[in-house]
Amino acid sequence: MDSEQPIGHVRAWLRVVSADDGGPPAGVTDGHLPSWGVGQRLSGDGLLAGAPITIEDAERIAPGETGLVRIHPTSWDAWADVRPGERIPMLEGPRIVGIAEVVEVVRGAGSAGQLDDADFVREQYASTAPLETRIAVWHPGADGRTPQDVALAALAAVTPSRLLEVGSGTGAFAARCAHELRCHLTALDSSPDMVAATRSHGVEAVLGDVQDLPFDDGSFDAAVAAWMLYHVSDRDRALGELARVLRGSGRLIAITNGRRQLADLYDLVGGEKLDSSFSSENGGQQLERHFSRVERFDVEPIARFADRDAAAAYLASLGRERLAARLPELEEPLVARGQTTVFVADK
Ligand SMILES: C[S@@+](CC[C@H](N)C(=O)[O-])C[C@H]1O[C@@H](n2cnc3c(N)ncnc32)[C@H](O)[C@@H]1O
Repeated sequence: MDSEQPIGHVRAWLRVVSADDGGPPAGVTDGHLPSWGVGQRLSGDGLLAGAPITIEDAERIAPGETGLVRIHPTSWDAWADVRPGERIPMLEGPRIVGIAEVVEVVRGAGSAGQLDDADFVREQYASTAPLETRIAVWHPGADGRTPQDVALAALAAVTPSRLLEVGSGTGAFAARCAHELRCHLTALDSSPDMVAATRSHGVEAVLGDVQDLPFDDGSFDAAVAAWMLYHVSDRDRALGELARVLRGSGRLIAITNGRRQLADLYDLVGGEKLDSSFSSENGGQQLERHFSRVERFDVEPIARFADRDAAAAYLASLGRERLAARLPELEEPLVARGQTTVFVADK
């Protein structure tokens, strides 16, 4: 079977129960389809999920032996909580015929754990509340700067008179840019609620998709895409569109997060983060395909969580209630470091 399914897989050491103790007499081979005891339902009974396995570096795991396998969930729903080190019983009927010790959880492009999953993006931004919950925890880092301060300085350097912000969210940054840069700002967002929120700041805002911008070539001197390109499935197209609507030598500011973003928080709950397809680590290469000069400025803002509830609300705002439930009580407020990059890309 194809081991590179777009949804990803769970790698694990699988110990197959010996035949004397009720294990499968022939052992297991590729494509074996057992049930897995992946957790507890709220009612307290076991949650079972069917998922086939493939075996790495062997043709078969004999009864009583251990081998490295990939388990292939068809959806992450039941597997959302599974993490490295966990031992998952493999069942056939009511009988436990193996134990898989998880080595790593690899989420693929089609997984529900992707920031660019269209359903996730639609639900996330159907109202402003989840985004506002997250924005509220952020503060400047040790150097006193926020990523927005750095972005604003890079915009001011090119004195734009026509500025575009795509994925404007609540509109707070758009309003700040319009005021501090004294330019005409047009905002665009794919969520009707975000468009309404942006308009409430007195900023012109339209409903639209960055992958298909409703503007003529060369309409803007500069553009901003802040924490939004990782939500876009065809980023090459979106970046092509942004380059198209900028005038010659126009400037794009793209802000995103890196792998270490909020590691202090995620380490507490042992959960992997949602996969980002446009990050501090890979954003530069993507921009270089459409812009002649790309510079980066790394900023480390901090997030403050007053107590466990505040940290839980943050995780829940991303639909990650299962991780939130794992948070320990906090004896003091949690200060978690951010890892943000402001890319400055010139056409
Ligand atoms: C994480 S929020 C960031 C909002 C704002 N830039 C900020 O810094 O607070 C991402 C925003 O991008 C919008 N968005 C997601 N995909 C989009 C797309 N394809 N085209 C336009 N906007 C999009 C969402 O609706 C949401 O408002």
